[in-house]
Amino acid sequence: MILVTGGAGYIGSHTLLALSEAGQEPLVVDNLSQGKAEYLLGAKLVQLDLRDREGLAKVIKGHNLEGIIHFAALSEVGRSMRDPKAFYENNVIGGLNLFGLAAEAGLPVVLSSSCAVYGLPQSLPLREDHPRDPISPYGFTKLVLEQALEDFERAYGLRWISLRYFNAAGADPEARLGEDHEPETHLIPIVLEAAGGKRDEVTVFGCTYPTRDGTCIRDYIHVCDLASAHVCALSHMASGRGGLALNLGTGQGLSVMEIIDLSRRVTGRPIPAREVAPRPGDPPELVADASLAGEILDWRPHFTDPAEIVATAWEWYKRKEGL
Ligand code: UFG
Repeated sequence: MILVTGGAGYIGSHTLLALSEAGQEPLVVDNLSQGKAEYLLGAKLVQLDLRDREGLAKVIKGHNLEGIIHFAALSEVGRSMRDPKAFYENNVIGGLNLFGLAAEAGLPVVLSSSCAVYGLPQSLPLREDHPRDPISPYGFTKLVLEQALEDFERAYGLRWISLRYFNAAGADPEARLGEDHEPETHLIPIVLEAAGGKRDEVTVFGCTYPTRDGTCIRDYIHVCDLASAHVCALSHMASGRGGLALNLGTGQGLSVMEIIDLSRRVTGRPIPAREVAPRPGDPPELVADASLAGEILDWRPHFTDPAEIVATAWEWYKRKEGL
């Protein structure tokens, strides 16, 4: 059995499907502050906040676990600038409770990390040995957790793999699950809300960045490809290996305007866009060198066509909104 914290969230719920398809039984711990029980698709849930160390210890001792995948965290960069206390309390305290108990129980941990640990890129594409110098409290919480894993490995022999996602996007191709944040801040779901008529327009944050069309470039990676990487990471550690951080991206960057144009083609809808001031803390370009994950985990993204990624998100969106 695999303990999945934050299994009711966007990437967590898709990983439950990937685990089930790989013949693994997930046990979810989630406080349901962001996630929704309906996205568990029948997986067993213990509703618990990771800051409740006693409760978490009981769950870990009470089940026959083989590993842990740790998603549960606050993840919105902009909110972390306004409310860092919530991020440090949730992400750091919860994570440290979990890692301490994992070390005591001898369980390997896969950490949901982020390209936000790098801060402003000094070179592109980003490799795992790029300096980690976050520019948001969110990024700092992920850096603290990565550092704790390294230190816990040295002192207590904890096995771990940190997966640094670039921009998670898309939805289950059967549209059983998808992205559903409240409030929504991510580009692709916002663009689809404009396509579906829920919003009048998309506001484009900044159009004078030093990029090919002046808008920010990101590496959009399909959520099912992220999910499968977690399953690969667990099986890698089953043979006693670990202690590494891996980028997960496609290596292909798309600008905000390119995503909007692509979404117009995929949905066949007009999608009005208006340029506004840049959003503080947005680096101009983030693109992954994910070759290490390929070498070590034998993992490669299955969704390499951005139109296909947007199409899966659109199918999910239409089903969710009854369009
Ligand atoms: N954007 C817009 N308009 C919008 C929303 C977004 O122009 O209405 C732009 C952003 O400025 C950015 C790009 O679209 O340039 C992507 O923005 P998202 O909010 O979708 O994603 P981010 O790149 O900000 O965030 C992602 C992850 C974080 C992670 C971060 C690292 O969601 O968890 O990358 O920088 F930390």
